[in-house]
Amino acid sequence: MSARGLFVTGTDTGVGKTRVAVALIHALRAQGLRVAAMKPVAAGQAAGALNEDVVALLQAANVPADVRDVNPYAFEPAIAPHIAAQQAGVRIELDVIAAAYARLAAAADAVVVEGAGGWRVPLNETEDMADLAQRLGLPVVLVVGLRLGCLNHALLTAESIAHRRTPWAGWIGNHLDPDMPCQAENLAALHLRLPGPCLGEQPFLPEGVLEAGAPHAMPHGLPSGGAGRPVALEWLALPEE
Ligand SMILES: Nc1ncnc2c1ncn2[C@@H]1O[C@H](COP(=O)(O)OP(=O)(O)OP(=O)(O)O)[C@@H](O)[C@H]1O
Ligand SMILES: [Mg+2]
Repeated sequence: MSARGLFVTGTDTGVGKTRVAVALIHALRAQGLRVAAMKPVAAGQAAGALNEDVVALLQAANVPADVRDVNPYAFEPAIAPHIAAQQAGVRIELDVIAAAYARLAAAADAVVVEGAGGWRVPLNETEDMADLAQRLGLPVVLVVGLRLGCLNHALLTAESIAHRRTPWAGWIGNHLDPDMPCQAENLAALHLRLPGPCLGEQPFLPEGVLEAGAPHAMPHGLPSGGAGRPVALEWLALPEE
């Protein structure tokens, strides 16, 4: 299996994983790469419609792909995936997701995979999102949604990622709220305590600005990988097995 890509996780649901995944796809495309996107498990969409994360990722990617590979598991209610699956009489299988990922990877230079919820969200009775990231073997990007409580969530998540045999790509601070008190102090605490690198910050950008295609939709640190260095492609690649 080609192991080139990124697994985007976050400190919680609604912290900006999709925003950052889209920005990463654009940053990789800007390097001339063919980029596929994947949302293995999505919960929350109208009957017969595509989940909005899947739509955003499909629009950002530049590799034609079967939507069943991009989003193998889609559930209508916006509830925890394993409960949505149970209610639908389905078991989420990592084998199915890994096979879909392999088909996408075969047609792309890189695959950006967005998790659902946070790092330890259950997928079935024994496995969770961390198991999926480990199975795909992709370097993990942690999106820290900058809001009260994010320091604890970020540090716990980074600690848990470090306990897995999963490569760490780095973290991105996402500005969810322009009025958040002490943003700079919170970011300083993250820089001090999280393992590096910080791949960038995603500024606060209201929906309308994004739709207008503002260049700032890209994290500050990309495509320069912080401190003016170009993004290191090694965090997209794993040694051949
Ligand atoms: N940098 C930002 N500026 C402005 N709004 C943002 C920003 N990041 C996220 N948002 C808004 O916050 C909400 C959640 O963002 P997003 O959908 O990217 O989160 P997520 O982590 O992907 O959520 P989910 O767990 O549902 O996949 C959206 O309405 C999005 O537009
Ligand atoms: Mg999302």
